Amino acid sequence: MGNVKTTRTGKRATQAPAAIDPSAGLLGAVPFACAMFDADGVLIAGNARYREEFGALPEHIRRDALLALLHGDGGDGAPQNSHDGPREVLAPHSGRWYALHWGRAEHAAAPVEVLTAVDISERIETLDSHKNRQEKLLFTSRLMSVGEMAATLAHELNQPLAAIMNYLNGSLRLVEQAGGPVQVERALQAARTQAEHAAAVISRVREFVRAREPRRDAHELNRIADTVLELLRLEAERLQLRIDLGLPANLAPVFADRVMIEQVLLNLVKNAIEAMREIPAARRELRIDARMNLDDQIEVRVSDRGAGLSPAEQDQLFSPFFTTKTDGLGIGLAICRSIIEYHEGRLFFEPREGGGSVFGFTLPRYEART
Ligand SMILES: Nc1ncnc2c1ncn2[C@@H]1O[C@H](COP(=O)(O)OP(=O)(O)OP(=O)(O)O)[C@@H](O)[C@H]1O
Ligand SMILES: [Mg+2]
Repeated sequence: MGNVKTTRTGKRATQAPAAIDPSAGLLGAVPFACAMFDADGVLIAGNARYREEFGALPEHIRRDALLALLHGDGGDGAPQNSHDGPREVLAPHSGRWYALHWGRAEHAAAPVEVLTAVDISERIETLDSHKNRQEKLLFTSRLMSVGEMAATLAHELNQPLAAIMNYLNGSLRLVEQAGGPVQVERALQAARTQAEHAAAVISRVREFVRAREPRRDAHELNRIADTVLELLRLEAERLQLRIDLGLPANLAPVFADRVMIEQVLLNLVKNAIEAMREIPAARRELRIDARMNLDDQIEVRVSDRGAGLSPAEQDQLFSPFFTTKTDGLGIGLAICRSIIEYHEGRLFFEPREGGGSVFGFTLPRYEART
C-alpha cells in the first residue's frame, strides 16, 4: 500500500524530468542503489543508496561512462537494454560486487533507462571461501594419491632395477676378464652409474613415503577415548550433554595407529554432538561403548539421540562431500572409513533403539597380530 502513495507523490519528479532530482519519489523506496537516465543517457534521478555507492564517481551521471567503468570494456560489450538480464560486476572504486540490471521504462511520457545495482558482495565472498576450502581439500587428497602412486612406482621399479644392476656388474666382470673391448667396458660403466642414480632417486622417494606411513602398535581404547573427550569437553558442557562410557577396564589393546584412531573417534563423537544440537537438552545423551565381538575384534560404538538418518542419507553417508550441514565439508566419515579400512576394520552405521544413530568401527586386537 505504501508503494501506491509513493507513486502519487512521485509526481514531483514527473514535472521536472530534465533536472536531477535526488529524492526521486519512487526510487527512494527501493532498498538498493537505483537510478534513472534519460534518452540521452544523462542521470535524471538517483536514490540515496545510489548517491552513497556511486555518487563519488564522476561517471555516475552518464550512463555510457558508468557502463564502461563497471563492465570495463569501453561500453561496447555492455548490455544495451533490459533483455540482457542482470550482470555480476566488480565495482573498481569500492571493491564491492553488484548484480546490475538495466531496464526500460517511461517517465513523464519520455523513455528512460532504470539502473538497479544490488550489492551481492557477501554472497560472492561466501562462495569464494567455500570454493577455497574444497580446493584445499581436493589438493590434499590429490597429494595423498600422488604419495601412494610414488610408493607403488618405487616398489615396482626397485626389483627390475636391482636385476639391471646385477646384469651390468656381471657383464662388466666378463668384459674385464676378457680384457676388452674398452668401449664396451666404458659403456657398461656409464650404464651402471645411471642405474645407481635411478636407484638413489627411488630410495629417496621410499624414504619420503615411509616417513608419513602410519605406525601401528598396542593401544588402549580407554586412553584414546579420554584424549578425544578432553578435546570435546567444552562443547559437550555447553550443550549440557550427558556422556556415558561403557569401556571395560580390562579391554584388550588394539593394534592401531593411535593418532589415526583418535581422529576417527573425534569425528564420530563430533557428528554425534552436532546431531543433538537441535533436540531438547534433557534428551542429549551420548554413549561410547567398546567390547570384544564374535569375530575376536574390538568393536567401538558411538550412540546419540539425534534425528537419525533417512534411507537416502544412509546410502550416501560415506561418500566424500556428502553433508547436510551448512558448515560441514562432508569429509569426516569418508576419512574415518579409509582409516578404518587401512586397519582392516569396518566402519558401520545402524539406527539406535529408542531414536538416534549408532556409528561404530572394528579394530584388530594387538595380541591377535603378534
Ligand atoms: N550421528 C549422526 N546423526 C545424524 N546424521 C549424521 C551423523 N553423523 C553423520 N551424519 C550425516 O552424515 C553427513 C556426513 O557426515 P560427515 O562427518 O562425513 O560430514 P559433516 O559432519 O557434514 O562435515 P565434516 O566434514 O565437517 O565432518 C552429515 O552431514 C550428516 O548428515
Ligand atoms: Mg562430521
